[in-house]
Parts: sequence; structure tokens; C-alpha cells
Amino acid sequence: MSTVICVDGPAASGKSTVSKLIAQKIGYLYVDSGALYRIVTWLIKEDGCNMSSTEEIAEFAKNARVDFLPKENRVAYEVKGREPGDNIRSPEINALVSPVSAVPEVRALVTGWLRGMRSLGNLVVEGRDIGSVVFPDSVNRFYLDADPDVRARRRHKEDVAKGFADSASEGKVKESLLNRDKIDSTRKAAPLTIPEGAMVIDTTEMTIEQVADTIIVNIK
Ligand code: DC
Repeated sequence: MSTVICVDGPAASGKSTVSKLIAQKIGYLYVDSGALYRIVTWLIKEDGCNMSSTEEIAEFAKNARVDFLPKENRVAYEVKGREPGDNIRSPEINALVSPVSAVPEVRALVTGWLRGMRSLGNLVVEGRDIGSVVFPDSVNRFYLDADPDVRARRRHKEDVAKGFADSASEGKVKESLLNRDKIDSTRKAAPLTIPEGAMVIDTTEMTIEQVADTIIVNIK
């Protein structure tokens, strides 16, 4: 069985950057589970599904198809032969992804995909329920957190670079981020929570290197 390192935490806590760096440093595959929820949300939206109907979303989830392939140090996702790119990170998808990912059928679909990736090799998987629900048997569980203002600043900077936000909109970014945190941690199915026995790391005043190295030295 391959080794799985679980990195959970709220939006913009540093999970993606840190998980990518760990994968690169120790030769594991990086897995972005949030991107899978984003892809499903994007496919549902493109399909013209009624986003306020849990039944329609659940029905759609039965037929959603994404291909997975190891590419350099990550597991890449393709829909009809193409990687979805930054389409899945728009403010519109940001607003829709938390409610879609709260639908149990969507969670079952993505959880099955993630578990299947173990056959591809050793993994660093980032998300919200990785250590608690997806790989509860993993002994490598980490939970990253940071001050909400710092998280908003980090996400705003990324959004400006992608052309999704202007320089004056940090407040809006913070509002959207806190709203997602609230939905993610209060939903019934697999809420964002600190997995039992996880090592909690506050990244507010740490560099990416420091967080990655803290995790690497604690891998069992
Ligand atoms: O990490 P992210 O911001 O790209 O995640 C997008 C959304 O996906 C997040 O708001 C909640 C959901 N998500 C989840 O429910 N479970 C995961 N393991 C990862 C993400």
C-alpha cells in the first residue's frame, strides 16, 4: 500500500503551496481534492443543471467523468482530454463549490476517486476531510490554520494575479472565504474538522519552507 500524507485546513491556510512543495521534495504525487469538487461544480454549471436542486446535483454526480494521470509530481485531471485550468477558480465557482460539495452523492463520488489514486503511488493529499473521512487509516495527518486576515490577504493576492479580483477588493475576498469556511465546517456530510490525532500547524507567521519541513520531519 502506498503512503498517504493528509493535509487538511480552511481556504488559504497554505495547504496547496505546502503540499506541492512536500511532493516535490520527497518525490510523492500532489493531489488537490478541492479541484475535484471545483471540476464537478463547473461541469454541473456547464450542463445547465439547476444549482439549487440537490436532487439534480446528485443525479448529475452519478455520470460525471474525470480522468486521472500522474504528471511530474502531481495527479493531473482531464475532462474530455483537457485540463480545466483556471476556469474552476473563478468567483462564480467559488460561490457555488461549497453548496455543491455539501451534497452527499458528490462527496461519495470524489471520495471514491481519491481512494482510487492510491494505486498511482505515494500521495500528498490536501483538502477538508482527507484525514477524517477519505483516508482515516493514514497515520500522517496534518491540519493547517492561519489568522483569517492573513488568509484573506494571501487569497486576494492570488486572485489579483489571476485577474479575478482588483486591488481594492480584499474585503470581498475575505467575506467569500469566511462564508465558504462556514458552509464547509457546518455541513452535515464530512465537515471541515481537525482529524483525530492530527498535528495542528498555525502557518500565520511561518514561511512555506518552514511548514513543509515541519511536516516532512514528522512523517511516520
Ligand atoms: O481547497 P479549495 O478552496 O479549492 O476547495 C474548494 C471547495 O471544495 C471548498 O470550499 C470545500 C470543498 N472541499 C471539500 O469539501 N472537501 C475537500 N476534501 C476539499 C474541498
